[in-house]
Amino acid sequence: LSDATTPNKPKVVVCRHLGPAMPQLERRTDIDLVCWPEDRFCDRAWLLHNVKGATGVIVLLGDAVNEEFMAAAGQQLKVVSTMSVGYEHIDLQATARHGVRVGYTPDVLTEAGKPSDVLAITSQLCWGNLAWSPFKLCGPQLSTTLSSPKRTVGFLGFGRIAQATLARLVGFGITHALYTGSPSSNAQSVSARDAELQTRYRLQGLERVDADRLAQESDVVFVLTPGGKETYHLVGEAFLRKMKPLSILVNTSRGSVVDSDALAKALHEKWIWGAGLDVVEGEPFIGGDHPLVKEPRCVILPHVGSATTETRLDMATRAIDNVIGGIFGGEMPSELK
Ligand code: DGY
Repeated sequence: LSDATTPNKPKVVVCRHLGPAMPQLERRTDIDLVCWPEDRFCDRAWLLHNVKGATGVIVLLGDAVNEEFMAAAGQQLKVVSTMSVGYEHIDLQATARHGVRVGYTPDVLTEAGKPSDVLAITSQLCWGNLAWSPFKLCGPQLSTTLSSPKRTVGFLGFGRIAQATLARLVGFGITHALYTGSPSSNAQSVSARDAELQTRYRLQGLERVDADRLAQESDVVFVLTPGGKETYHLVGEAFLRKMKPLSILVNTSRGSVVDSDALAKALHEKWIWGAGLDVVEGEPFIGGDHPLVKEPRCVILPHVGSATTETRLDMATRAIDNVIGGIFGGEMPSELK
C-alpha cells in the first residue's frame, strides 16, 4: 500500500484495512490504493489530507462524509462506498449535489443478526458468577407460560433485519408481533407493503400500530429503525414510560435512536425490566462512568450485530465491488439511490 499515487490511475482511499478482503483491492493494477494504516478509526486529518484527488473512497460508520469531505476530495470524486448497511454518516444531499454515487451493504448482514441481547438480558448473564438461588438471576420468559399465554414483540422499524429477527423469534414461541413504519413513509406505498407483510406474517398476528400502542403492549421492543435526524431519541422518556414494567428494550440499530439518559432512568426507577444494547449513543467512546454501564439489568455489547467472519467478508467484498463499479462508471451491486 502506498501513499504515492500514479497519474492516470484512479486513486482509491480505504479508511480501514479490510483484512482478508484486502487482496481483492491490492492485486488490482488499475488503481492506486491508499489505506489508513492503523486498526482504529481513521484520523479525520489523515482522511482529509489523503482523500485529495481520490476517485473512490471506502468508509466505515464513524467517517463523516459531508461538504468538508467533498471539498477536501475534489471534483474528480465519483463514489463513496460504506462498509455498512447504515448510512447516516453520509450527507446524501451533499453527495447528490456533487454527483457522487453512494454504495452500501444491505442484505449481506441480515442473517448475521442474533437476538443475543434479549437472551442475555432475560437470564441476566452478566451476573452469572453469583451463587444459584431460586429466584436470583431470573428474568421474564420470552416464550408463553401458563400464567402468560400471549407474548408480544414490537419492532420500531420493520425492514429486512427486523423481519429476520422475527423469523428467529418464532422458535421462541412469540405469538403476536407489532411494528411501526418509518416516520416519513409514504402512506400509499405503506399500505401495499403492509398488506404484503401482514399476509407473510399472519401466523405471528403481525399488526402495524403507532408507537404508543407498541410501547404499551410489547414484552420486548426491538429498535431496528435507521439512525439520523428523523429518528433521533425516538425512544425517550415519553416512550419508555409507556412500556410495561416487565418489558425489555433491545437496540441493535443506532445509539442515537435511544436517549441513554432516559433509558438509564427507566432502568433505575424500574419503569422497564431490562435493556440489551448493541449500540449506544456516543460509541465507540463510552466510558465506565456512563449511567447505563452502572445498571445491572443492562447488557451492552460493542456493536457486534454483524460480527461473523462470513458476514464481515461479504460486507467488505460488497463495499469493494461498489467502489470499483463506481470509479469505472459501471454497475454498483448496492447503490443507494
Ligand atoms: C451496519 O452495517 O450499519 C451495522 O450497524 C454494522 O454492523
